[in-house]
Amino acid sequence: QPVAVTLRDKMPFPIGAALNPNLLTGNATYRQLASQEFNSITAENYLKMGNVHPAQDRYDWTGSDVLLNFAEQNKQRMHGHTLIWHQSLPTWVTNFQGDSLAWEAMFKSHIQTVVSHYKDRLASFDVVNEVFVDDGTLRPSIWLTHLGPDYVARAFTYARQANPTVKLFYNEYGHEYSPKRLAATVALATDFKRRGIPIDGLGLQMHTNIGQTDANIQNAIQQVAATGLLIHISELDVRVNQAKAANYVLTAADSQAQRQKFAAIVRAYRTLVPKAQQHGITTWNLSDGDSWIPSNCSCQDFPLPFDKQYAKKPAYDGILDGLN
Ligand code: G3I
Repeated sequence: QPVAVTLRDKMPFPIGAALNPNLLTGNATYRQLASQEFNSITAENYLKMGNVHPAQDRYDWTGSDVLLNFAEQNKQRMHGHTLIWHQSLPTWVTNFQGDSLAWEAMFKSHIQTVVSHYKDRLASFDVVNEVFVDDGTLRPSIWLTHLGPDYVARAFTYARQANPTVKLFYNEYGHEYSPKRLAATVALATDFKRRGIPIDGLGLQMHTNIGQTDANIQNAIQQVAATGLLIHISELDVRVNQAKAANYVLTAADSQAQRQKFAAIVRAYRTLVPKAQQHGITTWNLSDGDSWIPSNCSCQDFPLPFDKQYAKKPAYDGILDGLN
């Protein structure tokens, strides 16, 4: 009987999925696929400030413990997502009263507590997530208001103080469709390197769709790779329902287009990112049934390599096609 081929056996770089601890505990099929197919996992939600730090004087490691224990049992790497973001904030932060010194102390303490907590058990962190808007300028946020524009750099410095070796990433979306967002990400990396701000890698989320051109994807990957940093395709999914129709049904043609898009992304990553810079590719969620997209668009979509029954789709073969 032939041994089933799994992604973690076949891919020449780490291959991951963003996981949910409730599904991991409650769903045996999900758990089995998560361990068999992947050698890297990301906490989809449970290291975000709103979950891990629910009150100023209290941290809750329950969800991230489930994920990290699972990863260690299955010889998987775990990536931490995300220390600083403008979303998923606990209300104590949105209501926080204090002068700039108090904000700075709170910001620093959060970063250093989360980075220190698991010592060296996490391989890498998204230190800051999504600071740019489409025109490449800094996104208005509570952090920008209270900490000023250089908060992004200080977050990296604080994280490095808490752990001298964990890989520190800046994570962003839209590089494949927004030239200004792409330029802003590259400029941030270049500026940090020039100033000696400790950054190890860039995360390209790559929430994309079958209509996106391979050329745009290749251009984004090639430009971030030129920074010399580690490159993580950190949140990959490929939407098929471009019109966001509520009653969309997955067609064979769209399924094949999705397969080709997964292949093109893997191929671009493999050929345009030097081996030493390949931190890996992570899909955002595991199956179409647990994707964040349908609830976000209030529409049907099927953006992942496994269907709602956890069966492999053509998109799964697309990942393997990308090896050639
Ligand atoms: O768990 C609660 C549930 O108890 C409650 O009844 C329900 C009602 O709203 O909310 C549930 O929490 C939701 C959680 O997902 C789990 O489903 C939150 O409201 C919802 O905001 C949260 O959405 C997450 C979103 O980030 C915001 O944190 C998505 O799952 C997650 O996939 C998404 O991930 C982001 C990345 O972090 C950054 N890049 C974009 C990506 C997609 O938006």
